[in-house]
Amino acid sequence: MILFKKIAELGAFIAEQKKKGRIIGFVPTMGALHNGHISLINNSKQLGQLVVSSIFVNPTQFNDAKDFEKYPVTLEKDIDLLEKNGCEVLFLPSVKEMYPDGVANLPHYQLGYLETVLEGKYRPGHFQGVCQVVHRLLHAVQPDQLFLGQKDYQQCMVIKKLIELENLKITVVIGATLREPDGLAMSSRNMRLNNVERNQAVKISETLQFIKKEIRPGYIEDLKDRAVQYLTAEGFKVDYVEIATADTLALVQNWDGKTPLVTLAAAYLNEVRLIDNMLIP
Ligand code: PAF
Repeated sequence: MILFKKIAELGAFIAEQKKKGRIIGFVPTMGALHNGHISLINNSKQLGQLVVSSIFVNPTQFNDAKDFEKYPVTLEKDIDLLEKNGCEVLFLPSVKEMYPDGVANLPHYQLGYLETVLEGKYRPGHFQGVCQVVHRLLHAVQPDQLFLGQKDYQQCMVIKKLIELENLKITVVIGATLREPDGLAMSSRNMRLNNVERNQAVKISETLQFIKKEIRPGYIEDLKDRAVQYLTAEGFKVDYVEIATADTLALVQNWDGKTPLVTLAAAYLNEVRLIDNMLIP
């Protein structure tokens, strides 16, 4: 695996590879890698692409300073894991490399509705930060395909919107959420859970499974209310449990029984905020 810290050097390497006809697959990450990230590397590799990954804990997407400070960093382990799994290039920029002029005057993206609901509502500024960094990363890596995980469902939609707004010729490939044997969605933030919290955390995926099983055409608000009550009683501080249309994230109160839906949840276990989602059907 070749490691680059500078955009110019990475750019020169990628240009050379493109001349040789290589297709570039890109897996952006903030490190603290788990099998979910590795499955995205594998998805790109299976297509015969030159797999580029990045590790950069982007300060501009953390609306909560404590969350940024406590974000897990496991760099040596990450590098080892990437190497063992056939990642060919790792981009590991510094904050200065990514934001040479500081972070005070970064571009604003017209994300519209997507920024006003769910994660957008509960994490103000988060998706602007995601777009700021992803736009720069895409510029640096110049990928043909971008591999993202369904676990960050709304983020996938936001990044697709960014690609559309900026007219980039990049296709987005979404990989399924990988889960622990008990159903907990794999996430870097799971590393911050203590044993008691880890055992409780599975209740989020159980709640989404419950919604999937119980949902019927008609009024569905009460199902969401029951889910929030359950998680609250189990010790979570719930930001939301919602049901939305799978393609636009419009919140749904009455379901026609046909429109594809996604149920999404975000809740804190003490200081750790967890998210998850499941498609219906
Ligand atoms: O999902 C993540 O890890 C991050 O939001 C991303 C896409 C790497 C941007 O920092």
